[in-house]
Parts: sequence; structure tokens; C-alpha cells
Amino acid sequence: MAKPIYILNGPNLNLLGTREPEVYGTETLADLEQRCIRKAGTLGLAVEFRQSNAESELVDWIQEARANGAGLIVNAGAYSHTSIAMLDALLACDIPVVEVHLSNIFRREPFRHQSYISGAAKGVICGFGGLGYELAIEAMASAISDA
Ligand code: DQA
Repeated sequence: MAKPIYILNGPNLNLLGTREPEVYGTETLADLEQRCIRKAGTLGLAVEFRQSNAESELVDWIQEARANGAGLIVNAGAYSHTSIAMLDALLACDIPVVEVHLSNIFRREPFRHQSYISGAAKGVICGFGGLGYELAIEAMASAISDA
């Protein structure tokens, strides 16, 4: 069976839909998952979509994706700005990594302007809300077909 692309979501993204909707929109995480499954399906890709508030679980899932995935899309939430452990796990991956953020982190507080995760990403998409996940899936399909 073809390997899925992993889409990993970090802390507080389980609250999507009710969390600061003026920043993150009204779409829930479940809505976003359906959107990703639909988009990936049109490109012939399967999706493994997960969310955790725990850094260690996210590191474990990155390692799982490294072994079992065709590619990895990650919105690490606040861990983007703090987690060298996630960066190291991503650097160990030889599958394509695409970083995504719902909001435009560069228009926000200065502490959000740096993402450690970007150091391991093929590219970064931010500021387009849920559409960004679809754009990341398109970019991933192209990266996988180039590999
Ligand atoms: C986020 C941006 C981060 O700065 C923030 O901590 C999040 C969500 C985004 O998707 O815009 O939790 O990754």
C-alpha cells in the first residue's frame, strides 16, 4: 500500500474553531482534517492526520513518519518557536517536510517570527488559514513526484 503523508498539528490546534477565531478562523480541526483528506484524495495521496499538545508525542510521530510516511506536513503551533527537539527529529527525516501556519507569523509578535522547524522544511506556507494546508498538500505532491 502507498505510504501516507503525515499531517501533524501541535499544541492548542485542537481548539480550532473556538480559539481566537479572529486569528485562526472558525474552521475546526475536524473540518481541516476532512479538507486535507479531500484535497489529498484528488492527488492520489492518503493522509495520516494527527494533533497533540505534547512535544514528546509529536517527536515520536515525526519518527514514525520518517519510517512510514511519504512526506510530512507540520504545523507545530507554539513549538515552532521553541522546539529544537522537533527540529532535530525533522532533520533526521529524509522525506519532504512542509511547514504550515494558519496565521501569518511574520505579521504577529516578534517571538513568532522565528521558527526552528523552518530549518528542516523544504518550504513554509503561512497566512492562508485552512487553505494553507491544501497548498501544502499540493507542494507535497510535487515534492514526492520529484523525489
Ligand atoms: C500557528 C502560529 C503559532 O505562532 C501559534 O503558536 C499557533 C498556531 C498558526 O497556525 O498560525 O499555535 O502555528
